[in-house]
Amino acid sequence: MNAKQLSPGIWHLAANISKDNLFEGLWPIPHGVSLNSYIVEGADIALIDLVREWEDAPKQLETQLKELGLEFNRIKYLILNHLEPDHTGWLANFKKRNPHIEIVTTKKGADLVREFYFIEDNIRVVKTGDKIDLGDGKTLEFYEVPNVHWPETMVTYEPASGTLFSCDAFGSYGSLTEKSCDCELSEKEHEFYEFESLRYYANIVASFSTFVERAIKALSDLEIKTICPSHGIVWTDRPQDIVERYARYASYYKGPCEPEITLIWGSMYDNTAYATDAVRDVLLESGITFHEYRVPEQDISHILAHAWKSQGLILGMPTYEYHMFPPMAHVIDMMGRKHVKGRKVFWYGSFGWSGGAEKELNSLIEQHKLGWDITGKADFRGRPTEEDIEKIKQGVRDFIKTVMESAKK
Ligand code: FEO
Repeated sequence: MNAKQLSPGIWHLAANISKDNLFEGLWPIPHGVSLNSYIVEGADIALIDLVREWEDAPKQLETQLKELGLEFNRIKYLILNHLEPDHTGWLANFKKRNPHIEIVTTKKGADLVREFYFIEDNIRVVKTGDKIDLGDGKTLEFYEVPNVHWPETMVTYEPASGTLFSCDAFGSYGSLTEKSCDCELSEKEHEFYEFESLRYYANIVASFSTFVERAIKALSDLEIKTICPSHGIVWTDRPQDIVERYARYASYYKGPCEPEITLIWGSMYDNTAYATDAVRDVLLESGITFHEYRVPEQDISHILAHAWKSQGLILGMPTYEYHMFPPMAHVIDMMGRKHVKGRKVFWYGSFGWSGGAEKELNSLIEQHKLGWDITGKADFRGRPTEEDIEKIKQGVRDFIKTVMESAKK
């Protein structure tokens, strides 16, 4: 994409990373992701956040700087809101091209600049309330927001324009087109980025939800007219929408969550699949919103997104070698790591010579302190009988009632 002016003296730059990569080396990005940087120009010029040497991201950024007629040596300050390498991986080479640039970051950020990139000079440490006057009416103010998403993180605010450079906070997956502002997107495009922001939140930020709530509260006195995150679209029209959305996502950490169910199941020889048909029928008849995933065919990134917002989880899992079906154990382990806690749960599944799935389920719930309330279960030997199917159907009907009664109103 091209460099884009957001307001007088403020430009958005973005490097798009393709769908063929994994974010954090782990999460699929079927629609890509953007690494956003920003230029703030007063009498002096600041570049906010950098890119990683990932695909051709440095070249994309350099091309956009050239579009603005900016040589590297005209940039006086490099603001590093967050040191994770998706925003700093290019730092050592960037510094070689602009050896006199002043790096601005928090104290913990400065430690990481030294330890990750062996840079010792021209580092300015800032804390909440510190400011840099760029001249010509432009000022940068800094606010520490620890653990959104690493301990060293801060955000940068430009008061004259009301622009918040929020780094990971308020971000999303999804590459950008020239229509990179919320005011330019159709309803369908908003739906796309809404799910990509939920998936990004569940994958990357969810574990730090209490810090997200703290940061939103700490920044609530700022007059914010534009939100510029480091991933995804820029919010110039309705910045409050993404703040409210993130506040809602953060609230799922303690619950209650939405009156929805995520159904996750796996099957070895179609016996658990046969029972899943009955589960799905009841869910469809009830009209409740549900999201269905089969493992291992579907990826954990998307499962976490829907599980994060759902008050109810239904798990269909056969027993495998005296334990749970291994792909389901992986799902539950990841839910533990990402703090998908306090959910209502119903489970069902087939076993052959002995059970074992339930024992491992209870062990994982305990290990990760998930606090799940298992309100019903239905396991069966081999193929489910008609009686088994009826028991499963009734169990799911009762479960739906429990979910609706306990969910966010
Ligand atoms: Fe986009 Fe936590 O880095």
